[in-house]
Amino acid sequence: MCGIVGYIGQQQAMPIILDGLKSLEYRGYDSAGICTMDKTRPDIRRSRGKLFNLSRLVEALPLRGRIGIGHTRWATHGKPSETNAHPHQAGPVVLVHNGIIENYLALKSKLSGLGHTFKSETDTEVIAHLIEQKMKSGTAFEQAVRDSLRELKGAYALSIVSETDPDTLIAAKSGSPLVVGVGGKEFFVASDIPAILPHTREMVFLEDGEMVVFKNGQAQFSTVAGVPLKKMPKHIDWSPLMAEKEGFRHFMLKEIFEQPRAVRDTLSGRILEEEGDVYLEDLRLSDAGLRGFTRICIVACGTSWHSALIGKFLLEEHCRIPVEVDIASEFRYRNPVIGPETLLIAISQSGETADTLAAVREARTRGARVVAICNVIESSIAREVDGVIYTHAGPEIGVASTKAFVTQIVALLLFTIRMGRATDSMSLIRSRELLADLLHLPGLMDQVLTLNEAVRDIALHFIHARDFLYLGRGINYPIALEGALKLKEISYIHAEGYPSGEMKHGPIALIDDQMPVVVIAPLDRLYGKVESNMQEVAARGGRVIALCTEGDRDISDKAEAVLEIPDCSEHIAPLLFSIPLQLLAYHMSVLKGNDVDQPRNLAKSVTVE
Ligand code: G6P
Repeated sequence: MCGIVGYIGQQQAMPIILDGLKSLEYRGYDSAGICTMDKTRPDIRRSRGKLFNLSRLVEALPLRGRIGIGHTRWATHGKPSETNAHPHQAGPVVLVHNGIIENYLALKSKLSGLGHTFKSETDTEVIAHLIEQKMKSGTAFEQAVRDSLRELKGAYALSIVSETDPDTLIAAKSGSPLVVGVGGKEFFVASDIPAILPHTREMVFLEDGEMVVFKNGQAQFSTVAGVPLKKMPKHIDWSPLMAEKEGFRHFMLKEIFEQPRAVRDTLSGRILEEEGDVYLEDLRLSDAGLRGFTRICIVACGTSWHSALIGKFLLEEHCRIPVEVDIASEFRYRNPVIGPETLLIAISQSGETADTLAAVREARTRGARVVAICNVIESSIAREVDGVIYTHAGPEIGVASTKAFVTQIVALLLFTIRMGRATDSMSLIRSRELLADLLHLPGLMDQVLTLNEAVRDIALHFIHARDFLYLGRGINYPIALEGALKLKEISYIHAEGYPSGEMKHGPIALIDDQMPVVVIAPLDRLYGKVESNMQEVAARGGRVIALCTEGDRDISDKAEAVLEIPDCSEHIAPLLFSIPLQLLAYHMSVLKGNDVDQPRNLAKSVTVE
């Protein structure tokens, strides 16, 4: 959480930093700030609330200088306020920070004893004072930063400037993401790729314990301990346009509508139709390796956890291997039974979620082989695992995940085919059928997107509901969970997802004529059972919104609203059902006047425990 940006070069830093912060605002948006080095003096502007407030402030009081740092905050230590907003300054030192310094209280009391006074309640301010303290006793800026970093416990990505060295910018990382953009003689630093994309696609990804000193048009990479490093930039394929709204009112709507394209990109270059197999370029697991596993554990958080639940269904069904799914924050605290015979799959859009990263580390310590399904290239998780399947969905900016979810399921389907073929648990006929289904998927998704207006009408009809229930069975149960989560996240309406069969064991008590119940009811082998659940809801006055298969003529007399999706195989149906549920949450949020892309209290990338 929190986004940091830095710039050093020949251009004015302020507009570059401000634009960078705009594309990082999804990481946190309770306050923001910028510092530029104007000749020899750092000049700081900070403001509480969204970035818009900071933009207005710098319009009125512009900042000059060719070196600058910026920050958009998601509060951890200290309430959202101007005083707690970054950058933080101590003497000549000014810095922005993403992460949490766990030993900040001990450092604070030591520094207080040495006469330092603190203005904010943040852990971050302590770092600035620590560096200042070392400089007071004669240590040069760069060395003072190195010495201070070695005293910190916890996670940080930092951009630091100092009045004593007005031509220098220092950045460092441990535990929080940081990418460096290389553009000739100018350099960019950011928490995430989209902030840099408009300027360069040549990027260097810092590893934990590394730092970079920018000075005289050069970037010197080294370990915090001072060992010089040679780091080559990687070319990033994402285009700047991918991180823009392209005429849509919100990023979330744009991302919902680009799902057919995103799925095509997930599939691109990976389908081997003839062989009935797939090619997963970075999986780094041989057939023999795949045959060696006796079980699979999948760990993830939030929406990614829902795709993990679908993965369990797919892998158990097609590969006949036991699969356990864990919420990443629970996994490492329950002494999980894993070892070299276990394959751990970590699913994370950002590749930076702290709990998922910690679960990956835990599994590796215990000897498990780890594969990640990630969207963000070269993210921390992607770099720490044995193999990775990138979803190639492009940058996802809306805080509520949509295209990342769908492409994670597609990646899981691809992995299922690979695993099934390698272990001979899936026949050639079956794998070819699944591949054909996948190839049809983008076209079917385009058809489902034409429901947008109909979904909007349903949202209008149910806008005053205070609670929603979502029901689904089998592979569609996680879709019910995901539908409920989307509604909660952006429209702030209480919603529960339940397996339809469990309804009688509790949720049925909630049903009355005020309660909309969204039922996912495809014409599959469980149809009869879901239909009975619908009757039970209707008999208690509940208001059914049914998602069914095109041509299901019987459903309309049991439901107040019906949305039909094209007839398709059971394994890709969840991908189609998720679209109207995303749209329902979206329209409810818009109708309520909420901030769709930046819902309250949430952050896109949760890099703290
Ligand atoms: C946050 C986001 C969710 C996301 C979850 C996991 O809670 O708001 O949209 O699903 O983190 O993120 P990850 O990047 O690991 O998939």
